[in-house]
Amino acid sequence: MNIGIDIEEIKRFQKLLKDKNFIELVFSRDEIEYCSSKKKNAVQHFAVRFAGKEAVWKAINKSKKLVITDISFKNSVLGKPEVYIKGKKASYIDISFSHNKTTVVAVAVSSK
Ligand SMILES: CC(C)(COP(=O)(O)OP(=O)(O)OC[C@H]1O[C@@H](n2cnc3c(N)ncnc32)[C@H](O)[C@@H]1OP(=O)(O)O)[C@@H](O)C(=O)NCCC(=O)NCCS
Repeated sequence: MNIGIDIEEIKRFQKLLKDKNFIELVFSRDEIEYCSSKKKNAVQHFAVRFAGKEAVWKAINKSKKLVITDISFKNSVLGKPEVYIKGKKASYIDISFSHNKTTVVAVAVSSK
């Protein structure tokens, strides 16, 4: 079992998210669609996914040589985020997100 955690300040993302290239470089099409649908709260949802990528990266075996953009998330019909590695569902990794107006946090646990 391996665990990873990351915390980010929303403020840092407000500027970055004005850069369309940054968004398209870091986030998957599904992530962009989901976060953008949250309108004025979009920044929280983007920022927590960035934290999530870092948390997953910390939780998984470093020998897999993954980069942050290999990791993405899709929410289930219940709203629970699920982890994808290089576009494939990675059921051995669990992720949890929480966010408010100032801060986001993500925790990942990998059973491998
Ligand atoms: C799901 C819920 C717990 C989210 O809590 P919140 O304090 O509103 O918001 P947080 O910022 O902590 O968490 C939001 C994240 O929860 C995650 N989430 C939503 N539904 C989820 C579910 N069914 N399972 C796991 N995670 C879920 C999502 O990742 C969401 O972020 P995202 O939209 O960017 O993906 C809450 O909205 C809810 O529906 N509660 C139902 C009432 C209840 O039973 N509460 C528990 C009492 S013990």
